[in-house]
Amino acid sequence: MTAPANPEKVRRKPLVLGNWKMNGDVAASEQLLSGLLRGDRELPDALAGVEAGVCPPYPYIGLAAARLAGSRFGWGAQNVAHFEDGAYTGEVSATMLRDLACTWVLVGHSERRALFDETDAQLSAKVEFAHRAGLIPVVCVGESRSEREALMTEQVLAAQIDGLCAALTSTNEQFVIAYEPVWAIGTGLTASPEQAQQVHAFIRSRLAAGRVPGAAGVRILYGGSVKPSNAQALFGQPDVDGGLVGGASLVAEDFLSICRAAALRSIR
Ligand code: PGA
Repeated sequence: MTAPANPEKVRRKPLVLGNWKMNGDVAASEQLLSGLLRGDRELPDALAGVEAGVCPPYPYIGLAAARLAGSRFGWGAQNVAHFEDGAYTGEVSATMLRDLACTWVLVGHSERRALFDETDAQLSAKVEFAHRAGLIPVVCVGESRSEREALMTEQVLAAQIDGLCAALTSTNEQFVIAYEPVWAIGTGLTASPEQAQQVHAFIRSRLAAGRVPGAAGVRILYGGSVKPSNAQALFGQPDVDGGLVGGASLVAEDFLSICRAAALRSIR
């Protein structure tokens, strides 16, 4: 197993975020949110020590905010505009997300990078606007299957991280990194705990090399087919600080069980 990149044992509160992607409707969202609230009521001890939240599609963020206010769960968005405001039809600004009391916003999810051609310059602008609005950007990075097979994982991740280092270091604001190997997203294939640890340690060292202040304290989440059955092993790794969960976040019991697995990390 790779040695932890933070031997000084900085405490990082485990974090689990649900990425609902473009799924559901009002009724399904209501049901999912009710399930989470039930878990919050029934499992307060098991969930103590974990920070958790959901990232619904834009139209349901207000619903999540109304239902989850006052609970253990926070909420965020899956994307944000790389413009401040103005004539950008169809876009949603960071300040609008702040208005809905979002805590987090995903930036550079591989689906956005691949399907919407998001560039480093746009992602840097998203990080900057998110920070200005007081949101915590969750910057997603990850290699494709062919890149892993060509032994280019570190090279690809280094380029993705270096491309954003300037934006991440321009302020002292918080951010989170999500390592999501593209080959593991929605495929049922998961990085092994050892593979995840190796990459997370690499990401942390790369942040430190890019002079990101407090790199040892940055939370690095794993994403890519996280399920109740593999969460505990993944979160047992020293540099895996929680998860970004897609499919399993659409089932309240599964998401709660993944949150519980992350909570165990805080009492190790
Ligand atoms: P998955 O998605 O858990 O369904 O693999 C993760 C993500 O894309 O954030």
